Amino acid sequence: MLKTIVFGIIVFITFSQCGDGLSGGAPVDKVVTVQSAGAKKSADMGATSSTSSMNAEQVAKAKEIIASVSDKALQGINPKKVFKTNCASCHGFTGNLAINGAKDLTKSNISLEEAVAQVYHGRGLMTPYKDVLSAAELVAVSKYTETLRK
Ligand code: HEC
Repeated sequence: MLKTIVFGIIVFITFSQCGDGLSGGAPVDKVVTVQSAGAKKSADMGATSSTSSMNAEQVAKAKEIIASVSDKALQGINPKKVFKTNCASCHGFTGNLAINGAKDLTKSNISLEEAVAQVYHGRGLMTPYKDVLSAAELVAVSKYTETLRK
């Protein structure tokens, strides 16, 4: 008889604690918070892994570069030569080699700003050229890639 009562009390305590655990506000809130943080994170990642364009800051910098280059400075550049020296190893002489996941430039349709931004800052496996090419070379070679389009 005493054993049954003790057993009953233990069962009661165990069950009532389970109940507290499940219906208690804190653990449920915690789960909800973690889920919404996770959702936010994956949304952010979706935004940064977009393949279509550079971010606004990078495009703004590219516009600055384009504005800083005079027509005269552009004429002093041989863009084909710049392209052969710096870009053809991945993109090929005609732009469609696409080595190492390089974009096929003959199928590109991005704006000049985006192209300059990409060449200046780099993207993915493409290394940045901000310390390699002058502003005039950056603009000239980006314009040149437009002539490779079919
Ligand atoms: C190391 C290999 C490599 C070299 C060298 C390289 N690129 Fe790229 N390029 C890539 C890769 C990879 C991508 C795709 C990047 C991405 O979007 O993840 C790309 C993308 C581009 C794009 C974007 C095309 C589009 O439609 O999105 C342009 C423009 C471009 N490259 C121009 C150049 C120019 C100009 C040079 C030389 C100054 C150059 N690249 C040198 C690998 C290279």
